[in-house]
Amino acid sequence: MKFFIDTANVEEIRKAKNLGVLDGVTTNPSLLSKENLSIKEIDNHYLSICKILEETGKKGDISAEIISSNYEDIIQEGEKLSSIHPKIVVKIPISKNGLKAIQYFSKKNIKTNCTLVFSSGQALLAAKAGSNYVSPFIGRIDDLSSNGLTLIKEIKDIYDTFHFKSKIIGASIRNTLHIIECAKIGIYAVTSPLKIIETLLYHPLTNKGLEKFLKDYKEKIY
Ligand code: G3P
Repeated sequence: MKFFIDTANVEEIRKAKNLGVLDGVTTNPSLLSKENLSIKEIDNHYLSICKILEETGKKGDISAEIISSNYEDIIQEGEKLSSIHPKIVVKIPISKNGLKAIQYFSKKNIKTNCTLVFSSGQALLAAKAGSNYVSPFIGRIDDLSSNGLTLIKEIKDIYDTFHFKSKIIGASIRNTLHIIECAKIGIYAVTSPLKIIETLLYHPLTNKGLEKFLKDYKEKIY
């Protein structure tokens, strides 16, 4: 399973690269808004992220989200985003115009990521439109006392049954269990803040075990 980092923060992306867990990046307007950028700086910001992805030597890409809702504007914005760098995937919220735009980009071989997916019906439509990636939001479903992972499993089953080519990126990851369960279901990727991926490293028995190994070595080996 691929690890995408859900951030627009260059430092966090670099840290993920150094840890060897950077398979791709996803951003959204809220994440971008945390980076203190002017509109003029946004293209260059995406370029810096693309360069870090190139340094990994992997095929990873970055999903850059459009903010338009009108069909013509989505097309114009998406084409502009994809012209910044070949690693840019146009991220499009699900809607009637969004679906039409996904079909348009699919014919032009411009990669898309259909986002804000909260139901199997939406995921089915996104796949039929030819979206390369589909991003169901696990954590935000859990927040409403429902089960985000059940949705992931349902979408995976539907895509497998009909051999859809769309790849599922489990988004809105809130904890390590989300990551493990997504791996068990067997989806293509999760997109997560780096700190949750780092948490996968820790186990109290590892720390305790290491402490004892070092203590025994120091006390008994002469
Ligand atoms: O990038 C989309 C998604 O991962 C957002 O997550 O934590 O804002 O629900 P969150």
